Amino acid sequence: MSGILCFRNIGQLVQADASTQPGIRLRKNCALLVENGRIQQILKDSEIKPTKSYTRVIDCQGRAVVPGFVDCHTHLIYAGERKDEMVDRMRGVTYMEILENGGGILNTVKATSHATEKELFDTATKRMKRMIALGTTAFEIKSGYGLTLNSEMKMLTVGKKLRESLKVPVTLTYLGAHTVPTGEDREKYLEEIIENLPRFRGLADGVDIFCERDVFTVADLRRLFLQAKLLGFDLRAHVEEFSHQGGCAEAAKLGALSCDHLEYATPMDIHAMHVADTTAVLMPGVTLFLGGEKHPLVHSMLDAGVTLALATDCNPGSSPTYNMQTVLTLAASMYRLTPEQALAAGTYGSAKALGAEKDYGGLLPKQRADFNLLKTNDYRDVFYYFGENFVDATYIAGKKFKAPKDPAVSP
Ligand code: NIG
Ligand code: FE
Repeated sequence: MSGILCFRNIGQLVQADASTQPGIRLRKNCALLVENGRIQQILKDSEIKPTKSYTRVIDCQGRAVVPGFVDCHTHLIYAGERKDEMVDRMRGVTYMEILENGGGILNTVKATSHATEKELFDTATKRMKRMIALGTTAFEIKSGYGLTLNSEMKMLTVGKKLRESLKVPVTLTYLGAHTVPTGEDREKYLEEIIENLPRFRGLADGVDIFCERDVFTVADLRRLFLQAKLLGFDLRAHVEEFSHQGGCAEAAKLGALSCDHLEYATPMDIHAMHVADTTAVLMPGVTLFLGGEKHPLVHSMLDAGVTLALATDCNPGSSPTYNMQTVLTLAASMYRLTPEQALAAGTYGSAKALGAEKDYGGLLPKQRADFNLLKTNDYRDVFYYFGENFVDATYIAGKKFKAPKDPAVSP
């Protein structure tokens, strides 16, 4: 829509950027002007011009407007579910034991390899629509359930099509090094990934690896990242999730944009992230869902000035959630983050983890007009009345998103 849209009578408007770190900036009784899908200006409500100066005026009824959530770590393209594994875990089998016995990620690899591109596109579209309705306006999506050249390419092609069809920012990450395919030699498999990296240049923005005991080593991470860096990929890594391996410090030294999980990250790792300005992506939904007790050293990260990001890790094994509001609430309660720190992490911080903090995540002039109109006049209600959906409407580039009618139906 051409012209200027005026969102007026906003009781509480949240902005976040580097200067507000680790929190947010709160503005009261203001109006938001949107032009060509971008924030043109934020002004006091009393300063807006007569109604007819704008293409449309939307009365926000004194409620809160927050930046759209940025889900900077997901595996949302997949086939099949893993509910039986969930029950096995409740009976005491661990996530890593399931993987070692050929289940876990490998289960989803099997199902995803059998699915057609169209099937993957359709289910992922449903998931993303549900996520947008819950307030997420930018996504990172990883491959990693293919583990063959063709199947990984199929996943990333689906990712590209999702970006085109849903018209939201989508960052794509090649995660061929998610786990070693059944019956393959680890080193040989990694060699193949490295050799084939150039073929992913037009498809993926970044490269990721699961660096963990009995999966990929720190030396593997280094070999992969050196080549990926040469080819111009962004680097991000699953590190220090179930044990301490040293992948975090290595990834940071190599210039990773983000290090993700970090339950076992040490003060030295935090120092390395700080020096490299690597963002720490935390995913408390995984800890909740896997019944883990180990939390990252979140307050040491804050003290060190490391930027925190939050993400769902949306995947069928360790975190089948679509809901960033839940993730923010968990982060606040489990890590003792204030609502403002958690909100900043799930917006500005997550955008920074994708190298996109100039473009979105903070509701700043010139940024994309991606935001949520809440059902309440106090954004802290998301944390207080936990479990409710407080997003009344999601706006993408200034346009109201048409939420699916029954967001509760499983795809
Ligand atoms: O981020 N840690 C490894 N990978 C994913 C889980 C993927 C799966 O279980 O399917 C994660 O937790
Ligand atoms: Fe993950």
